[in-house]
Amino acid sequence: MTSVLRSYKGIFPQVGARVYIDPTSVLVGDIALGHDVSIWPFVAARGDVNHIRLGDRTNIQDGSVLHVTHKNNDNPEGYPLIIGNDVTVGHKVMLHGCTIGNNVLVGMGAIVLDGVIIEDNVMIGAGSLVPPGKRLESGYLYVGSPVKQARPLREAERAFLQKSSDNYVATKNEYLAES
Ligand SMILES: CC(C)(COP(=O)(O)OP(=O)(O)OC[C@H]1O[C@@H](n2cnc3c(N)ncnc32)[C@H](O)[C@@H]1OP(=O)(O)O)[C@@H](O)C(=O)NCCC(=O)NCCS
Repeated sequence: MTSVLRSYKGIFPQVGARVYIDPTSVLVGDIALGHDVSIWPFVAARGDVNHIRLGDRTNIQDGSVLHVTHKNNDNPEGYPLIIGNDVTVGHKVMLHGCTIGNNVLVGMGAIVLDGVIIEDNVMIGAGSLVPPGKRLESGYLYVGSPVKQARPLREAERAFLQKSSDNYVATKNEYLAES
């Protein structure tokens, strides 16, 4: 049981086309990755007590941890982790049971807790904490612990959300070519 992709209760992670997964990372159970996703060194993703889904071209950077919350009588769906397309998850981020839209940047070291909904086109500053159940509105920068809405994103920042995703797709293609 030393492989990067591991089954749990007979469910094995599903991986799209042209995906790069660093061999030091671990992905367990009910996880589905879209196309052109990249998973960087020492990422741990555990789709055991609920599922994890990642859209196309999303990157999960080094040392990030992805987990979920189980279903129970009070919360029949539990909290799966759902991440959209073109999402940049910075180094050492904790994503737990939250829903993230498209073209989002989660700054390095951020912590995002159960039931959080992050709409499309949002940037979260490095080191931020997003408390359980909070909704982050499309088009804004959020920073702090707990996060507060700081200001609307600048035009260059909106463009950067896509650029960051594109950069990571290009970088992972170089890594794939090496392997
Ligand atoms: C938030 C961020 C986008 C900068 O935004 P900005 O508006 O240009 O911020 P500025 O540098 O002009 O600073 C404005 C204020 O926000 C504060 N600030 C900046 N970054 C902050 C952060 N991450 N958390 C809390 N406060 C922050 C500054 O100290 C400053 O405070 P002050 O007005 O009291 O002096 C940037 O600091 C950041 O966190 N980027 C994320 C980068 C990242 O993690 N990328 C991941 C991929 S590698």
